[in-house]
Amino acid sequence: MAMQLDNVVPFGRSFDEYVSMFNLMEPDLQQSILSVADGPASFNAEGTRLGYRIKSVDPLYCFESSEIKQRFDAVVDNIISQIESTPNDWVWDYHRSPSNLRKNRETALYKFCQDFEHSNHDGRYEVGELPQLKYADSSYGLGLCSHFLFLYSDQFDQSFHLNSIREMLRLCREVRIFPLLSLNLQTSPHLESVMGTLRELGYRCEIQPVAYELQRNGNKMLKITPP
Ligand SMILES: C[S@@+](CC[C@H](N)C(=O)[O-])C[C@H]1O[C@@H](n2cnc3c(N)ncnc32)[C@H](O)[C@@H]1O
Repeated sequence: MAMQLDNVVPFGRSFDEYVSMFNLMEPDLQQSILSVADGPASFNAEGTRLGYRIKSVDPLYCFESSEIKQRFDAVVDNIISQIESTPNDWVWDYHRSPSNLRKNRETALYKFCQDFEHSNHDGRYEVGELPQLKYADSSYGLGLCSHFLFLYSDQFDQSFHLNSIREMLRLCREVRIFPLLSLNLQTSPHLESVMGTLRELGYRCEIQPVAYELQRNGNKMLKITPP
Protein backbone atom coordinates (compact mmCIF):
# COMPACT_ATOMS: atom_id res chain seq x y z
CA MET A 1 0.00 0.00 0.00
CA ALA A 2 1.28 3.50 -0.81
CA MET A 3 2.65 5.29 2.21
CA GLN A 4 0.62 8.20 3.63
CA LEU A 5 2.94 11.02 4.66
CA ASP A 6 0.36 12.15 7.23
CA ASN A 7 1.08 9.01 9.26
CA VAL A 8 4.84 9.59 9.49
CA VAL A 9 6.89 11.49 12.04
CA PRO A 10 9.93 12.30 9.94
CA PHE A 11 12.42 12.76 12.77
CA GLY A 12 15.96 11.76 11.84
CA ARG A 13 19.10 11.19 13.84
CA SER A 14 22.70 12.11 13.09
CA PHE A 15 25.75 9.99 12.28
CA ASP A 16 27.07 10.64 15.79
CA GLU A 17 23.80 9.42 17.31
CA TYR A 18 23.92 6.24 15.20
CA VAL A 19 27.51 5.56 16.34
CA SER A 20 26.38 5.92 19.92
CA MET A 21 23.06 4.03 19.62
CA PHE A 22 24.68 1.05 17.88
CA ASN A 23 28.12 0.99 19.56
CA LEU A 24 29.66 1.37 16.10
CA MET A 25 33.44 0.88 16.08
CA GLU A 26 35.68 1.41 13.08
CA PRO A 27 35.56 -2.28 11.94
CA ASP A 28 31.73 -2.11 12.05
CA LEU A 29 31.70 1.07 9.97
CA GLN A 30 34.06 -0.48 7.42
CA GLN A 31 31.43 -3.07 6.48
CA SER A 32 28.83 -2.50 3.79
CA ILE A 33 25.87 -1.20 5.80
CA LEU A 34 22.15 -1.53 5.14
CA SER A 35 20.25 0.97 7.27
CA VAL A 36 16.57 0.05 7.22
CA ALA A 37 13.79 2.53 8.09
CA ASP A 38 16.46 5.19 7.82
CA GLY A 39 13.99 8.02 7.13
CA PRO A 40 15.40 11.54 7.23
CA ALA A 41 18.45 10.54 9.31
CA SER A 42 21.74 12.12 8.27
CA PHE A 43 23.64 8.88 8.96
CA ASN A 44 24.03 8.13 5.24
CA ALA A 45 24.86 11.73 4.25
CA GLU A 46 27.51 12.16 6.92
CA GLY A 47 28.81 8.58 6.74
CA THR A 48 29.23 8.70 2.96
CA ARG A 49 31.24 11.91 3.30
CA LEU A 50 33.50 10.05 5.73
CA GLY A 51 34.01 7.29 3.16
CA TYR A 52 31.70 4.58 4.51
CA ARG A 53 29.42 2.46 2.30
CA ILE A 54 25.84 2.91 3.41
CA LYS A 55 22.53 2.09 1.76
CA SER A 56 19.38 3.57 3.29
CA VAL A 57 15.96 2.00 2.74
CA ASP A 58 12.62 3.50 3.69
CA PRO A 59 9.15 3.79 2.15
CA LEU A 60 9.48 7.54 2.81
CA TYR A 61 11.89 7.91 -0.08
CA CYS A 62 9.01 7.90 -2.55
CA PHE A 63 8.48 11.53 -1.51
CA GLU A 64 10.43 14.64 -2.47
CA SER A 65 12.66 16.15 0.20
CA SER A 66 10.47 19.28 0.15
CA GLU A 67 7.43 17.15 1.07
CA ILE A 68 9.34 15.43 3.89
CA LYS A 69 10.45 18.84 5.19
CA GLN A 70 6.87 20.16 5.08
CA ARG A 71 5.69 17.19 7.12
CA PHE A 72 8.52 17.76 9.65
CA ASP A 73 7.51 21.42 9.96
CA ALA A 74 3.89 20.40 10.47
CA VAL A 75 4.60 18.07 13.41
CA VAL A 76 7.73 19.35 15.14
CA ASP A 77 6.10 21.93 17.47
CA ASN A 78 3.60 19.42 18.75
CA ILE A 79 6.22 16.73 19.37
CA ILE A 80 8.59 19.07 21.18
CA SER A 81 5.76 20.33 23.41
CA GLN A 82 4.75 16.74 24.21
CA ILE A 83 8.36 16.11 25.25
CA GLU A 84 8.43 19.31 27.35
CA SER A 85 5.27 18.25 29.13
CA THR A 86 6.71 14.85 30.16
CA PRO A 87 10.10 15.84 31.65
CA ASN A 88 10.58 12.61 33.63
CA ASP A 89 10.43 10.48 30.50
CA TRP A 90 13.64 11.85 28.99
CA VAL A 91 17.36 11.92 29.68
CA TRP A 92 19.19 15.05 28.55
CA ASP A 93 22.84 13.99 28.74
CA TYR A 94 23.14 13.99 24.96
CA HIS A 95 20.73 16.62 23.63
CA ARG A 96 20.81 18.89 26.72
CA SER A 97 17.27 20.33 26.29
CA PRO A 98 14.09 20.03 24.21
CA SER A 99 15.05 23.14 22.22
CA ASN A 100 18.47 21.69 21.48
CA LEU A 101 16.87 18.37 20.51
CA ARG A 102 14.75 20.30 18.03
CA LYS A 103 17.88 21.99 16.60
CA ASN A 104 19.62 18.62 16.30
CA ARG A 105 16.62 17.13 14.46
CA GLU A 106 16.50 20.17 12.13
CA THR A 107 20.22 19.81 11.40
CA ALA A 108 19.89 16.09 10.63
CA LEU A 109 16.91 16.80 8.37
CA TYR A 110 18.80 19.58 6.57
CA LYS A 111 21.82 17.31 5.93
CA PHE A 112 19.54 14.49 4.80
CA CYS A 113 17.59 16.75 2.41
CA GLN A 114 20.76 18.20 0.86
CA ASP A 115 22.17 14.72 0.28
CA PHE A 116 18.88 13.19 -0.85
CA GLU A 117 18.32 15.97 -3.41
CA HIS A 118 21.87 15.93 -4.76
CA SER A 119 22.66 12.23 -4.61
CA ASN A 120 21.33 11.90 -8.17
CA HIS A 121 19.68 8.65 -7.22
CA ASP A 122 23.04 6.93 -7.04
CA GLY A 123 21.33 4.11 -5.21
CA ARG A 124 22.19 5.15 -1.66
CA TYR A 125 18.52 5.89 -0.86
CA GLU A 126 15.99 3.32 -1.99
CA VAL A 127 12.29 2.90 -1.45
CA GLY A 128 11.68 -0.32 0.44
CA GLU A 129 9.50 -1.63 3.19
CA LEU A 130 9.82 -4.34 5.80
CA PRO A 131 9.02 -7.19 6.11
CA GLN A 132 10.28 -7.79 2.58
CA LEU A 133 13.20 -6.14 0.83
CA LYS A 134 14.39 -6.73 -2.69
CA TYR A 135 18.09 -7.42 -2.14
CA ALA A 136 19.96 -10.69 -2.64
CA ASP A 137 20.93 -12.99 0.24
CA SER A 138 24.04 -11.89 2.18
CA SER A 139 24.43 -8.62 0.25
CA TYR A 140 25.48 -6.60 3.32
CA GLY A 141 27.78 -6.96 6.29
CA LEU A 142 25.85 -4.97 8.87
CA GLY A 143 22.13 -4.23 9.06
CA LEU A 144 20.89 -1.39 11.29
CA CYS A 145 17.38 -0.42 12.27
CA SER A 146 16.94 2.69 14.39
CA HIS A 147 13.64 3.81 15.89
CA PHE A 148 11.29 1.59 13.96
CA LEU A 149 11.29 -2.10 15.03
CA PHE A 150 10.27 -2.54 18.70
CA LEU A 151 9.51 1.20 19.00
CA TYR A 152 6.21 0.82 17.13
CA SER A 153 5.20 -2.38 18.92
CA ASP A 154 1.56 -1.31 19.20
CA GLN A 155 1.28 -0.74 15.46
CA PHE A 156 3.24 -3.83 14.29
CA ASP A 157 2.66 -7.29 15.77
CA GLN A 158 5.10 -9.97 16.82
CA SER A 159 5.07 -11.82 13.51
CA PHE A 160 5.82 -8.58 11.64
CA HIS A 161 8.83 -8.10 13.94
CA LEU A 162 10.07 -11.65 13.53
CA ASN A 163 9.61 -11.66 9.75
CA SER A 164 11.31 -8.27 9.42
CA ILE A 165 14.31 -9.30 11.48
CA ARG A 166 14.64 -12.60 9.62
CA GLU A 167 14.53 -10.63 6.38
CA MET A 168 17.32 -8.37 7.62
CA LEU A 169 19.30 -11.49 8.63
CA ARG A 170 18.80 -12.91 5.15
CA LEU A 171 20.51 -9.79 3.75
CA CYS A 172 23.06 -8.95 6.43
CA ARG A 173 25.63 -10.99 8.35
CA GLU A 174 24.84 -9.10 11.54
CA VAL A 175 21.82 -7.02 12.59
CA ARG A 176 21.55 -4.33 15.28
CA ILE A 177 18.31 -2.76 16.48
CA PHE A 178 17.77 0.27 18.75
CA PRO A 179 15.85 1.07 20.91
CA LEU A 180 14.20 -1.92 22.58
CA LEU A 181 11.51 0.23 24.20
CA SER A 182 8.21 0.98 22.60
CA LEU A 183 6.69 4.47 22.51
CA ASN A 184 5.23 4.00 26.01
CA LEU A 185 8.80 3.65 27.39
CA GLN A 186 8.28 -0.01 28.31
CA THR A 187 10.41 -2.82 26.90
CA SER A 188 8.74 -4.02 23.73
CA PRO A 189 6.27 -6.86 24.42
CA HIS A 190 7.68 -8.60 21.32
CA LEU A 191 11.32 -8.62 22.39
CA GLU A 192 11.49 -11.82 24.49
CA SER A 193 9.50 -14.01 22.12
CA VAL A 194 11.34 -12.72 19.04
CA MET A 195 14.70 -13.42 20.71
CA GLY A 196 13.44 -16.85 21.80
CA THR A 197 12.53 -17.82 18.24
CA LEU A 198 15.78 -16.45 16.83
CA ARG A 199 17.76 -18.46 19.40
CA GLU A 200 15.82 -21.60 18.46
CA LEU A 201 16.91 -20.92 14.88
CA GLY A 202 20.50 -20.83 16.09
CA TYR A 203 21.15 -17.07 16.15
CA ARG A 204 23.02 -15.41 18.96
CA CYS A 205 21.04 -12.50 20.48
CA GLU A 206 22.86 -10.13 22.78
CA ILE A 207 21.38 -7.11 24.51
CA GLN A 208 24.17 -4.57 24.86
CA PRO A 209 24.18 -1.35 26.90
CA VAL A 210 24.94 1.75 24.82
CA ALA A 211 26.00 5.28 25.68
CA TYR A 212 22.94 6.88 24.04
CA GLU A 213 19.80 7.43 26.11
CA LEU A 214 16.99 9.86 25.29
CA GLN A 215 13.90 7.80 26.18
CA ARG A 216 14.48 7.06 29.88
CA ASN A 217 15.95 3.52 30.24
CA GLY A 218 16.20 3.30 26.45
CA ASN A 219 19.94 2.64 26.44
CA LYS A 220 20.03 -0.91 25.15
CA MET A 221 20.63 -2.32 21.70
CA LEU A 222 19.95 -5.81 20.32
CA LYS A 223 22.79 -7.39 18.36
CA ILE A 224 21.98 -10.54 16.37
CA THR A 225 24.64 -12.72 14.80
CA PRO A 226 24.35 -16.00 12.90
CA PRO A 227 25.13 -19.44 14.30
C1 LIG B 1 11.07 7.47 13.56
S1 LIG B 1 11.62 7.21 11.94
C2 LIG B 1 13.31 6.70 12.22
C3 LIG B 1 14.26 7.29 11.20
C4 LIG B 1 15.73 6.93 11.42
N1 LIG B 1 15.94 5.51 11.42
C5 LIG B 1 16.28 7.52 12.67
O1 LIG B 1 16.38 6.82 13.69
O2 LIG B 1 16.61 8.70 12.68
C6 LIG B 1 10.81 5.70 11.47
C7 LIG B 1 10.92 5.39 10.00
O3 LIG B 1 10.34 4.12 9.74
C8 LIG B 1 9.87 4.16 8.42
N2 LIG B 1 8.95 3.03 8.15
C9 LIG B 1 7.61 2.96 8.34
N3 LIG B 1 7.14 1.75 7.95
C10 LIG B 1 8.20 1.04 7.51
C11 LIG B 1 8.38 -0.29 6.99
N4 LIG B 1 7.35 -1.15 6.87
N5 LIG B 1 9.62 -0.68 6.63
C12 LIG B 1 10.68 0.15 6.77
N6 LIG B 1 10.57 1.42 7.26
C13 LIG B 1 9.36 1.85 7.64
C14 LIG B 1 9.21 5.53 8.33
O4 LIG B 1 9.03 5.94 6.99
C15 LIG B 1 10.20 6.39 9.10
O5 LIG B 1 11.12 7.02 8.25
